[in-house]
Amino acid sequence: MGWLDGEVAIVTGGGSGIGRAVVNRYVAEGAKVVVTDLDETLLKELEAEHGEAVTGLVADARLIEDNQRVVRHAVEVFGKLDIFVANAGMGDRFTEIVDIPDDKVADAYQQVFDVNVKGVILGAKAAVKELVRSSGAFIVTLSNSSFYPDGGGVMYISSKHAALGIVRQLGHEWAPWVRVNAVAPGGTKTNIRIPEAFGLDENGKPIRAHSHPSNADSEVERVTPLRTHSDPEDHAAAFVLVASRTQGKAMTGTVIESDGGLGVRGLRRVRGGDDLHRRFFGDEG
Ligand SMILES: NC(=O)c1ccc[n+]([C@@H]2O[C@H](COP(=O)([O-])OP(=O)(O)OC[C@H]3O[C@@H](n4cnc5c(N)ncnc54)[C@H](O)[C@@H]3O)[C@@H](O)[C@H]2O)c1
Repeated sequence: MGWLDGEVAIVTGGGSGIGRAVVNRYVAEGAKVVVTDLDETLLKELEAEHGEAVTGLVADARLIEDNQRVVRHAVEVFGKLDIFVANAGMGDRFTEIVDIPDDKVADAYQQVFDVNVKGVILGAKAAVKELVRSSGAFIVTLSNSSFYPDGGGVMYISSKHAALGIVRQLGHEWAPWVRVNAVAPGGTKTNIRIPEAFGLDENGKPIRAHSHPSNADSEVERVTPLRTHSDPEDHAAAFVLVASRTQGKAMTGTVIESDGGLGVRGLRRVRGGDDLHRRFFGDEG
């Protein structure tokens, strides 16, 4: 028995990274999943891995027609929609406002907000009727950047703060029919895409945050109380909990912060317990 037996989910941007880990875990918990992405190859891989439990659709989270098509597809193929995970998102390579050229700043804003904010709202708009019908769940992939500065630049941070507002407002608007929650991962080992306005690499491909030094393992571990730089799979169970109509029954408008403890970083030290193991057991653990 899985926690999502018989449930039908949509995961946007599920071809790679955190979304892909959520797809894999949802299938393991018994769900059927419609996965969207812009990259068809990734979707074909997921279909090959999961057989009839997964169907992939190339669909752009920034377009209402694409979101509507994805919801229709879920109902046609699997008969209903219980869970919508608005996960598709883009980074900004930690770009500070002073480093964005004047002629790029409006595009940079537009390209980040189009996916990270508009994409969530359009997904919600397209899914609400079917989610009310099923008394389902709407879930947003937020970030530590929904709460704290410096996990991105001004575009990413403000877009993820805005997406937190969507979770709170829709949690209110859709109660008691649809539970609306979020998972906020901290630094995670993915190749998050960066919009073109932030520049292209030497191959003409969008530059990826992955290459940014502050996203290196040792750097993320140094500033994280639990000394973790997460893998996408580390967050998957949180997405299952908020999706489950039995286990997440009392939750709406809430955020699970799966970020290695950024909320308990101290003012004097990142973590207070660095020497605890040594004090009790004489070694570093
Ligand atoms: N990687 C991190 O450190 C981190 C931390 C916190 C939150 N997040 C959030 O997790 C989510 C997933 O990011 P990730 O790190 O797994 O990156 P990722 O690039 O591996 O995954 C995102 C996927 O979304 C797809 N995508 C991009 N734009 C799209 C669009 N318009 N329509 C449909 N699909 C689109 C991409 O092709 C990609 O497969 C994002 O919302 C991101 O903000 C990431």
